Amino acid sequence: MSSSRIGLKQAVAANRLAWDASARLHQDSARWKELTAGFAAPGFSTFDATMTRTLDRLELQGLSGVQIGCNNGRETLSLAAFGAERCLGIDQSEEFLKQAEILKGIAGSDCAFLQADIYALPQGIRRDFDFAVITIGVLGWMPDLDRFFQAVAGLLRPGGRLVIYETHPMLEMFEPAAEQPYLPAYSYFEDGPSVEEYAITYDGGTKQAAPPSFWYIHKMSDIIMGLIRAGLTVTWLEEHPHSNRETCFDIYENQRAQLPMCFTLAAARTGG
Ligand SMILES: C[S@@+](CC[C@H](N)C(=O)[O-])C[C@H]1O[C@@H](n2cnc3c(N)ncnc32)[C@H](O)[C@@H]1O
Repeated sequence: MSSSRIGLKQAVAANRLAWDASARLHQDSARWKELTAGFAAPGFSTFDATMTRTLDRLELQGLSGVQIGCNNGRETLSLAAFGAERCLGIDQSEEFLKQAEILKGIAGSDCAFLQADIYALPQGIRRDFDFAVITIGVLGWMPDLDRFFQAVAGLLRPGGRLVIYETHPMLEMFEPAAEQPYLPAYSYFEDGPSVEEYAITYDGGTKQAAPPSFWYIHKMSDIIMGLIRAGLTVTWLEEHPHSNRETCFDIYENQRAQLPMCFTLAAARTGG
């Protein structure tokens, strides 16, 4: 992983190419087969126990939600299992949204999917969602967290709620493939993206050449301040000792000196 300076538009465009180029690998995987089989059954959800608890607490029955960075739509579609209705998944990868449409067909869902860059949403988009969801591996693709959260807040009605289930910024300091994986490899205060030229996969092992992609490390203070500046009031924050990342990060679980590995956060849009 090396570092690079690049503008927001260029980074977002490059990341779109990289995700599109990685889509086929995902559809050829055992995970995809599990999804197609799973969504054939009513009430199927891919959310883990932590996120299930969080969503249960939010009581989503009859509410309409938007997921930003929905990828193949597995989680947007899973929101139906919590009673949510007419949800929207937004992602800039056309190739992954083709997969989302296949899963939607299998599930017989009333979700919609929109191909759009979160930094350049279309004019006529709905802006009265009851809740918004951001999960695993979205914040790191965002070159500007303040503008990102402003776009997210703009999709919510006043009083609408945001829930985040993401990688803990401290985990970003470690490199599981390093010779000494338990020593911090990157600064918590890393400024500027790292660039990868491999397909983006979730197993952490597959190394197939792909267009360059740009990944940003944001501190916990960047996240909290971004939410505050976007007019979102944090109502819940919990740090967890388990991993919700690629399996290569599992080596950091169950340690005597345990790192925080992921977090759940809820916030509400205040004001009119
Ligand atoms: C790791 S995936 C999210 C996976 C999802 N949390 C899940 O578990 O199924 C990140 C997604 O963010 C999308 N993305 C990255 N930058 C984006 C942007 N500027 N606008 C919209 N989507 C973006 C990518 O295309 C990718 O599908």
